[in-house]
Amino acid sequence: MTQRLVLASNNAGKLREFGQILGALGFELHAQDEFGVPEAEEPFATFVENALTKARHAARLTGLPALADDSGVCVDALGGAPGVWSARYAGEPKSDAANSARLIADLAAHADKSAYYYCVLVYVRHADDPQPVIADGVWAGEIIEAARGEHGFGYDPHFWLPALGKTAAELSPLEKNTHSHRGQALRALVAKLENTLKTTLT
Ligand code: IMP
Repeated sequence: MTQRLVLASNNAGKLREFGQILGALGFELHAQDEFGVPEAEEPFATFVENALTKARHAARLTGLPALADDSGVCVDALGGAPGVWSARYAGEPKSDAANSARLIADLAAHADKSAYYYCVLVYVRHADDPQPVIADGVWAGEIIEAARGEHGFGYDPHFWLPALGKTAAELSPLEKNTHSHRGQALRALVAKLENTLKTTLT
């Protein structure tokens, strides 16, 4: 039996990445715009508060269980910026190219290019769920100036992975899921969900 689940995002890249893993587990994932759900505000300074707010908003408006993520790239030399502000680092309207250009400009004077992607996932069974299931993941790399690769989204063409000798945008979707902050968070979330279910049934 499939379980319908609303993803509190309209980002096609995320829908694709989550859909691959959750589809195999029997979840039927729907983007929130299929139900006419507008994007929730993300005003908070922590990833987890933003994700929880988005999950509750989507669950409230659809009546379905909801999954939300909040993620970003955190650059060590910039004190963790752009962090929770990654999607709009270069202002409105949101632009991956403008965000990457600003990040590279901000980092130009710094020798340390180390960075990491962070992702937190929040699953709520319903809008007022008092026990949201929360998992996170971290993926370390370096920011490079020259864009490489055609896959992924956001900062991926500039996110260099020394151990793989590629940028995140040079990885196939499957390879990216294997390594990424989002893939790690999702596997941790699935393990928690399975555990929760077992505990409930025994
Ligand atoms: P969110 O939609 O509020 O979670 O914003 C996340 C932002 O962080 C995205 O718009 C991207 O700019 C950046 N980001 C998060 N994950 C990734 C990734 O896997 N690749 C590239 N950029 C990412």
